[in-house]
Amino acid sequence: MNILILGPGAVGSLWATKFKLVGHHVSLWGRTSKSELSLQLDDAPLTTYSNQSITSVQEADLILITVKAWQVESAIEPLLPYISEDTIVMLMHNGMGTAPLIEAKLANNPIVIATTTHGAYKPSKQQVLHTGHGYTQLGGFNAKGAQCDFLAEVMNHALPEVHWNPNINGALWTKLAINCAINPLTAIHQCKNGELAANEFAIELANITHELVEVMNKEEIKVDFDALHATIMQVVNATAANYSSMRQDVFHRRRTEIDFITGYLLQTTEKHQISTPENTKLYQRIKQIEQSWTE
Ligand SMILES: NC(=O)c1ccc[n+]([C@@H]2O[C@H](COP(=O)([O-])OP(=O)(O)OC[C@H]3O[C@@H](n4cnc5c(N)ncnc54)[C@H](OP(=O)(O)O)[C@@H]3O)[C@@H](O)[C@H]2O)c1
Repeated sequence: MNILILGPGAVGSLWATKFKLVGHHVSLWGRTSKSELSLQLDDAPLTTYSNQSITSVQEADLILITVKAWQVESAIEPLLPYISEDTIVMLMHNGMGTAPLIEAKLANNPIVIATTTHGAYKPSKQQVLHTGHGYTQLGGFNAKGAQCDFLAEVMNHALPEVHWNPNINGALWTKLAINCAINPLTAIHQCKNGELAANEFAIELANITHELVEVMNKEEIKVDFDALHATIMQVVNATAANYSSMRQDVFHRRRTEIDFITGYLLQTTEKHQISTPENTKLYQRIKQIEQSWTE
């Protein structure tokens, strides 16, 4: 397939190199205007890709968008005049809320949403490290996207495991709930995920979870408090030694994905006219932290 990776950061470079290894024709669209970029996955040989080539947009069978959630809208903008209606557009990032933005611009394209638990890290522009083996779920966002289940096999060949999930919305909400519980707290307290298992966080985590359950049920995602709380604590314990991405973003004073994580929850809360004070407090605290960097 002709595959274009929009946003060759850690996740995008991991997929670019893995797709290339199994024989796909892979191009990149990064922020630099260099016409070629090279990438090295772990100890594998360096591989070279065209960058910012209009032809690669026009000929793409798949555009995989791996920028951060808040970068999606501006990243797709320069490509819009060249994207064919047959090109599948796939979003792969933490958080929710970007697919409707893409649909508004590319109403006739198949749109697919992906969520991955693989870990990737880019210590330099060229090098990408596959730091944690995970799995990837895909599902259609619109009717045309729902017909793209063959992509699971294509992607599974490059970087297993990949599953097609007809209920991707449920999977995304579960991931969002885990992120809402873990990310802001670890960012505010600048702690590792595992530290949230301490007693001092027990009541706060329970309150956050109660609110998440209420919103998810309103969205017709069937989940109860015990099950969601157990899932969140299981992730806290399984990733005890890790720093969450939001903790890292705050540490490095980079804009976080809060607007597409807790922010998306709050938008949904507003739609259903319910109140989620614990999550609102976390959202406001992260926004305050971000604002303090510009003051
Ligand atoms: N890393 C992981 O292990 C991991 C795991 C699961 C999920 N995720 C999620 O996956 C998403 C991507 O994460 P990441 O770690 O790969 O982030 P990242 O390394 O920051 O990658 C984003 C890339 O997009 C590029 N970019 C930004 N705006 C652009 C634009 N307008 N045009 C072209 N390229 C643009 C950035 O360029 P610059 O280099 O110039 O900034 C960067 O290379 C996030 O939502 C993250 O939460 C990450």
